[in-house]
Amino acid sequence: MSKKLHHVAIIMDGNGRWAQLRDKPRTFGHIKGARVAKKIITYASDNSLKNLTLYAFSTENWLRPHEEVSFLMTLLGRYLKKETENLHKKNIRFSVIGELHKLPVNLQLAVQNTVDLTSKNTGLHLTFALSYSSRQEVVLAVQTIAEKLKSGEIQKFQINEDYVSQHLMTAGTPDPDLIIRTSGESRLSNFMMWQSSYSELYFTPVLWPDYTTNDFAQACRIYNQRERRFGKVFQQNEKSFI
Ligand code: FPP
Repeated sequence: MSKKLHHVAIIMDGNGRWAQLRDKPRTFGHIKGARVAKKIITYASDNSLKNLTLYAFSTENWLRPHEEVSFLMTLLGRYLKKETENLHKKNIRFSVIGELHKLPVNLQLAVQNTVDLTSKNTGLHLTFALSYSSRQEVVLAVQTIAEKLKSGEIQKFQINEDYVSQHLMTAGTPDPDLIIRTSGESRLSNFMMWQSSYSELYFTPVLWPDYTTNDFAQACRIYNQRERRFGKVFQQNEKSFI
């Protein structure tokens, strides 16, 4: 894995369409999607990626039919129950961003168990975005900062970009270098809007259940060919940013 690529985030999209194309219920696509997630996690870990974030359930996903939401919660719980030991053995540190308190209590406990067990691991940092929305994340950060300002803990001049970043759910994790979205949709859908300011975006028509480690490697290769200027001018002869 390239040294330049520290954090890849993936919007895993297309499970429902994949299932419908096969005349199967949407849940069938989610089951296959979970298997693909497992393969990508293993590949990222085996290739020494430092940070991988997977958008597994958005705040908006709560509005889906109850049966589908309930199925996804069960699937996530099952994944954690089955995979926690494996994650630990692979030295993977697991964490979650999102409004955890909105998840069913048994899933909250499963998440906490995996987070606790893997907290000291030093390999891949794997984050699941669960009941996550970027706007809500920003709202919560603004509320916390406003409280600190009101109580006199901080002064207005102390609020800068770093300070805001430190109050987001992703505090301590570098911004994603690359955001991949599958299934042909070309939008971020309320995902890491602050953190993606300079992320490279990569959209692929492949539906998530069909996504392979080769597709992932290809996205990483294309990322490596892109020139990131962060708003500056790149001088070819100096090979550095100015
Ligand atoms: C988007 O497909 C996918 C989701 C809303 C859920 C993502 C969940 C998984 C991949 C399975 C669980 C994951 C893990 C890591 C255990 P969609 O349903 O929006 O598809 P559509 O756009 O075709 O309807």
